[in-house]
Amino acid sequence: MQYYLKIPRKAIFYDIIFSMKKAHDIKIRHIKMLEIKKVVDLRHRSFKIPYKPNTFALKHIIRHKEHLQNAVQQIKSGGAKILVATKIDKIIGSIRYKILPNQKIFLFGLAILKRYRGRGIAKMLIEKVEEIGKKKKLLNITLECEQERGLPQYYKKLGFKVDKTKKHRDHHDVYMSKTLK
Ligand SMILES: CC(C)(COP(=O)(O)OP(=O)(O)OC[C@H]1O[C@@H](n2cnc3c(N)ncnc32)[C@H](O)[C@@H]1OP(=O)(O)O)[C@@H](O)C(=O)NCCC(=O)NCCS
Repeated sequence: MQYYLKIPRKAIFYDIIFSMKKAHDIKIRHIKMLEIKKVVDLRHRSFKIPYKPNTFALKHIIRHKEHLQNAVQQIKSGGAKILVATKIDKIIGSIRYKILPNQKIFLFGLAILKRYRGRGIAKMLIEKVEEIGKKKKLLNITLECEQERGLPQYYKKLGFKVDKTKKHRDHHDVYMSKTLK
């Protein structure tokens, strides 16, 4: 009986309400400098360990530090920007983007916490990047993803088309784009 008292009822209650309301109450905004570690952790947890079949789990852990340094560097240099999706101030998803010289906006680093997936949050983040691209009068939005993880199907549903596929030893990188009108 003791166990029942330990259940975080408030958390369960919010989860039920949240799943009923889908992406209700989600805010998309640019990251604050102090939140970088949270976003790197989120992204790290969102990807399967090991990410690629021939990668050791240890390498994934070592790369965490590298990813944090990269993110800080990207933000400081202004080379890339990070958007976060928040729910009652909790960061539940993120995406990065950078503007390329050829009138393109490139999106990468998309990740949503497992328990918040399937509610259109990734779609909201991608649409926000598209909106930014349109405001800046850019021509295309582009991305790279991995064929073996089913991702091209996901992006096709959002209007992206395949431009090129590159074969590697154990996976295929798919380059996709969408015209911004
Ligand atoms: C891919 C990812 C960002 C999608 O986030 P999400 O918020 O669940 O996406 P949305 O709610 O906008 O879309 C959900 C839809 O996408 C589909 N989908 C999600 N991941 C998919 C995948 N890997 N392959 C094919 N379809 C996928 C779901 O089945 C769902 O379909 P439905 O709308 O027909 O029910 C999330 O699964 C994730 O963080 N994955 C791990 C990191 C990753 O792979 N990032 C992409 C790097 S390019």
